[in-house]
Amino acid sequence: MNLETFVQALPKAELHLHLEGAVNAQTFLKLARKNGTTLPSFAEVEELYRYENLVDFLQVYDLVAKSVVDADDFHLITYEALAHVANAGGRYAEFFFSPQVHQDAGVAYETMFAGILKAMDDAEHDFGLVSRVIPALNRELSIERGFEFLDLVLPFRSDKVIGIGLDYDEEPFPPAPFKAVYDKAKRAGMRLTAHAGEGGPAANVRDALDLLGAERIDHGYRVMEDPDLVARCIADDIAFTVCPSSTVILTRWRDLAAGDHPIRAMLDAGLKLVIDTDDPPMLQTDLAKEYRLLAEAMSLDRRTLAQLALNSLDAAWLDESLKREWRAAWAIEVDRLLAAEADA
Ligand code: ADE
Ligand code: ZN
Repeated sequence: MNLETFVQALPKAELHLHLEGAVNAQTFLKLARKNGTTLPSFAEVEELYRYENLVDFLQVYDLVAKSVVDADDFHLITYEALAHVANAGGRYAEFFFSPQVHQDAGVAYETMFAGILKAMDDAEHDFGLVSRVIPALNRELSIERGFEFLDLVLPFRSDKVIGIGLDYDEEPFPPAPFKAVYDKAKRAGMRLTAHAGEGGPAANVRDALDLLGAERIDHGYRVMEDPDLVARCIADDIAFTVCPSSTVILTRWRDLAAGDHPIRAMLDAGLKLVIDTDDPPMLQTDLAKEYRLLAEAMSLDRRTLAQLALNSLDAAWLDESLKREWRAAWAIEVDRLLAAEADA
């Protein structure tokens, strides 16, 4: 079985995908025309999906977000994003969305959730992809906006709206100021994750864990600058949702095959990693491709890839009894795939 077939067949969960970063270029164009969003000039719409760095990327991300206006638009982008996960062999998805950017464009939270939740039900019904949504705070906005975000999000808390995240540009906006917002979300029963150590230092990973109470870390690459923190994350079984193409396109680690690429170092150190896409069409990728790129660049064997796929279920926020059931079924599938490899 070639690598492409193997990674496609592996049962995988996607735990780090931004809804607005998962809008394909053609859908972006269609929604922008429908809703009158002004776009920069381009010859091919795909040209809009090229960036120099994260800050550059986030400007396009906001433009995509502003082209999504009514409940049907939210339904369309969610349904397409979930279909994209399923087409890459994803069995389950937890995805972020950015309510504040839509709110600033005048969209009501009810409108966003109506489209998103309906699409999640439709995806489960039509092609069996179970999903959960994680509204994420824009760390570049104020703490007051953070509390307002909670006031608007918490009424939607359910088994489908399971937690909160923290995203946008980390370097100038560390996690610590969001402690009180995270405390309130936790008291309301939300699960907690945060982008940390993507552009900011290892101290941000520590603060995300200790101050915010994050249960997982999104990206987390710069944790490698603090060996004590690495040891503590291993001991506490903290999962890191790492995104290979995202590092190549949006960070300073542009060569996945380099010996000092942080994902290589994190794997070698024994941290629990989950492979994810971040913003699949905006980064020209899908979930299976991320596993393949990593395997090719880092010469990972099939057993390691299988372990990474099982990690993705382990780190998911599904309830424990369902997780146990799925884990048993996935383990059988994985064993069969590995046995087929051994026989080949
Ligand atoms: N939003 C979408 N992708 C992101 C990333 N890689 N970092 C921070 N915020 C994001
Ligand atoms: Zn992200």
